[in-house]
Amino acid sequence: MSVPQPHAKPATHILVEGVTLAYGDFVIQHDLTFGIKRGDVFIIMGGSGCGKSTVMRSLTGLLQPKVGRIHYEGVSFWDAPAADRAQTMRRFGVMYQSGALWSSMTLLENVALPLEQYTSLSPAQIHDIAAYKLALVGLRGFDDFYPSEISGGMQKRVGVARAMALDPDVLFFDEPSAGLDPLSARLLDELILELRDSLGTTMVVVTHELASIFNIGDDSVFLDPETKTMLTTGNPRELRDHSDIPKVRSFLTRGEA
Ligand SMILES: Nc1ncnc2c1ncn2[C@@H]1O[C@H](COP(=O)(O)OP(=O)(O)OP(=O)(O)O)[C@@H](O)[C@H]1O
Ligand SMILES: [Mg+2]
Repeated sequence: MSVPQPHAKPATHILVEGVTLAYGDFVIQHDLTFGIKRGDVFIIMGGSGCGKSTVMRSLTGLLQPKVGRIHYEGVSFWDAPAADRAQTMRRFGVMYQSGALWSSMTLLENVALPLEQYTSLSPAQIHDIAAYKLALVGLRGFDDFYPSEISGGMQKRVGVARAMALDPDVLFFDEPSAGLDPLSARLLDELILELRDSLGTTMVVVTHELASIFNIGDDSVFLDPETKTMLTTGNPRELRDHSDIPKVRSFLTRGEA
């Protein structure tokens, strides 16, 4: 029997309601409605150019919807005063599609940067937290390396450590495994699952890599570039096996079903 937790946070962390996104008058996606549960790995999927990064921008505070609302724990994100929105945004960790590290800084300095910018912690405290985050992504002992001295997969891990520097409530990843060989991509997926399980952080992941989608996705939304709206939402493995929407099944089975 489950006992109600008096201070339990609501199960729905992020709620997208009737959202239309556009650049100027050019609509990218319309009528998006889906929920993201706390502690889930939520996948934004769909073919190239359908608007995945655009949806992520609206969730992270970079692009205001033309229509509709985005709620964080029941509070309308874009209707809130700018100062409140900035407060919410401080609780986000974001790894963008380009995801570059500063080449002239060591790995530790890269991870320490958000702590220097947004906290008043002492240099010693910042050093310890940054070293801890690097250890968390499996890079203990690499503090003083420069980005050019490590592999692409390790660089992605540093990107994850940097996104986690401020102990975010939500982690956003845009194509985290792009450019990685299958083994490194797999290791990065495992890292994402480890962090979800150990920290309970909600993760929003943009990807069109099928292996990743099935490995890590608890839930998802499928965006269609032709109709410019979502076709479905749900667990990706269940959608693959049971969806009756041809485009969704075709995407999730590489056209083999
Ligand atoms: N700043 C912008 N101004 C105008 N149009 C834009 C802008 N950014 C993206 N677009 C257009 O919006 C559409 C969706 O782009 P978006 O980057 O969100 O797609 P995506 O699904 O992330 O693509 P990819 O799989 O290539 O990363 C594209 O047609 C793109 O050209
Ligand atoms: Mg994109």
